[in-house]
Amino acid sequence: MHWGQARKLLRLAHRRTGHPRGPSAQEPRTTADRDDVPPSSSVNGRSDAVPRRARSLCIASGKGGTGKSVVTASLSALFGLRGRTLIVDADMGVGNAHILQGVSPELSFVDVVEGRTSVDDVLFPCSDAIDLLSGGSGVSRMAGLSSYEMHLIAAGLEKLERNYDYLVVDSAAGVSAQTVAFATACDCVLLVTTPDLTAMTDAYAFLKVLLGRNPRANVALIVNRVETQEEGQRVSERISGVCNRFLGRAPTLLGCLPDDPAVRRAGNHRRPVVTREPQALISGQLRRLCVRVLEELSRENPVGMGSRLMTESGFSSRFVSQF
Ligand SMILES: Nc1ncnc2c1ncn2[C@@H]1O[C@H](COP(=O)(O)OP(=O)(O)OP(=O)(O)O)[C@@H](O)[C@H]1O
Ligand SMILES: [Mg+2]
Repeated sequence: MHWGQARKLLRLAHRRTGHPRGPSAQEPRTTADRDDVPPSSSVNGRSDAVPRRARSLCIASGKGGTGKSVVTASLSALFGLRGRTLIVDADMGVGNAHILQGVSPELSFVDVVEGRTSVDDVLFPCSDAIDLLSGGSGVSRMAGLSSYEMHLIAAGLEKLERNYDYLVVDSAAGVSAQTVAFATACDCVLLVTTPDLTAMTDAYAFLKVLLGRNPRANVALIVNRVETQEEGQRVSERISGVCNRFLGRAPTLLGCLPDDPAVRRAGNHRRPVVTREPQALISGQLRRLCVRVLEELSRENPVGMGSRLMTESGFSSRFVSQF
């Protein structure tokens, strides 16, 4: 594929996009709070009589530090207002989703992989509606799990997801097979980029690998840390141009999130920004984003993230029976 050409196009686009600055271009705070999350039932549209399978969302990015964990924390808090929500910290070995939930679980996927416990035991309550499966930290080999280890995690998720309405995966950065497997297993992937050229280039790379794995993946884009909504639109158009040209399709832009000091303040209090500072500009945008994400998710028929991840792990139980 014309990877050199794609990079060049993004570079050119970036030069044209520029970084307009100044508060005047930001929306007034009053508009930020308009689009509150609608009451449950209206979007999900499923009756309680139907056996539950969580609708799954993967928050991903090619480049690290684009804001995946920040977006995961706030969307999970908003999903939690509507139904039972499970956060899966798939940033294995260097996970920090627990920090923004203000909890300190003792067990993590590390304990599952090392055979000390099952996935159910790793489950940690963050609030009445939100639970977390922690990725664990300080264990580098977790970034390259074997197919059997992935299968162990997937089988545990397959059992657990029946108890939830929403499953949100806080992904690791990059395009490793493990990271792409989680994204492929989810109903919808939210690709997070910033206006930085490197982040845009890596977003394209991620999409290329993901679509190589699943050409029908439902992928949407968020542009985080924008100075103005127009800047976010321009970034999205540049990425779309390159994606359409080289991949034959492009992600829909679901939202642009401002660079907002409220994010750091909330993070320092170990809370999602929508919970800690609901009046902040970014919190209003996150609530709007949540509505659009829920609409996207409601279009998909949830097949089950755990079972798809089991398939993606490539592990065959017949292999074990040969021994
Ligand atoms: N919209 C924003 N405004 C201001 N700061 C932000 C915003 N989004 C993210 N940040 C800051 O950027 C940093 C990285 O965010 P975050 O940890 O969510 O990224 P990540 O994509 O999860 O990183 P990693 O790839 O390491 O998991 C954090 O310090 C966070 O506070
Ligand atoms: Mg993160």
